[in-house]
Amino acid sequence: MKIVQNIQQAVEAANGLKKSGATLALVPTMGNLHEGHLTLVREAAKHADHVAVSIFVNPLQFNNPKDLKTYPRTLDADLTKLEQAGVDLVFTPTPEIMYPDGMDAHTFVFVPGLSDMLEGALRPGHFKGVTTVVTKLFNIFRPDFAMFGQKDFQQVAVLKKMVRDMAMQIKLVEVPIVRDENGLALSSRNGLLTSEERERAPLIFRQMMQIRDQIISGRRDFRELTEEAGETIDANDGFRTDSIDIVDADTLKPVSEQTSRIAVLMAVYLGTTRLIDSVSFDL
Ligand code: PAJ
Repeated sequence: MKIVQNIQQAVEAANGLKKSGATLALVPTMGNLHEGHLTLVREAAKHADHVAVSIFVNPLQFNNPKDLKTYPRTLDADLTKLEQAGVDLVFTPTPEIMYPDGMDAHTFVFVPGLSDMLEGALRPGHFKGVTTVVTKLFNIFRPDFAMFGQKDFQQVAVLKKMVRDMAMQIKLVEVPIVRDENGLALSSRNGLLTSEERERAPLIFRQMMQIRDQIISGRRDFRELTEEAGETIDANDGFRTDSIDIVDADTLKPVSEQTSRIAVLMAVYLGTTRLIDSVSFDL
């Protein structure tokens, strides 16, 4: 497994892997890797001859400096996991390497509409940071495939539109959410929970499933459904609902006559940790 830190080395290593027509899949991550990320890596290996992973805690997508500071960084353990998973190439740049002129002076890629709603309205600038860094990674690796998890439901929607709008010659592959045995979506932020919080965190999943079941059994009073779920969650010590949305899974807009697939998106604070989860299903 080759590990590179600067852009030129990454370009050369990626070009080397793609020599004589071999295909390359990229898995962009912010590190602190868990089974969710490793599932993306395994999917990548099914799609392409070679797999590259980037590990970069991208300051441009953090709207909260404390969140950036406390984001878990575990590079050595991450590299061991990637080596065991058979990854060919790992890119571990620093912010100075990715943003040599500083973040404010860097060119941005921005997807209007989808970036401003829902999670984007609560975290201004977040998706602009994601689309900018992912474009840069795509330009460095020029992969045939790029893998993204449905854990970040809106992120996938924003990136799909970016690829379509900009005619990027990359196939995005969506991977379903990986959960622990109690339903909690695996996340690097779970490591910030106390052991007691971690035991109680699956409440978010259970409430999400309840909303799904109620919609499937015919309820369409979405506002009441989200309010009830929010109240149930907030009645538990340490939980504070940030947002619950029931939307059209394709447009992320309110459910309409045309909607064939629904997504339930949740963001909940448990103590000081913000957890997100989602589920989508056919109507
Ligand atoms: P990060 O949170 O590290 O996630 C990297 C990828 O792993 C994302 O595509 C995410 O959706 C996926 N992932 C995380 N947890 C998952 C789970 N439990 N099941 C399935 N997939 C999961 O998302 C980012 O990093 C960044 O925004 C990034 C795309 C790297 C741009 O900086």
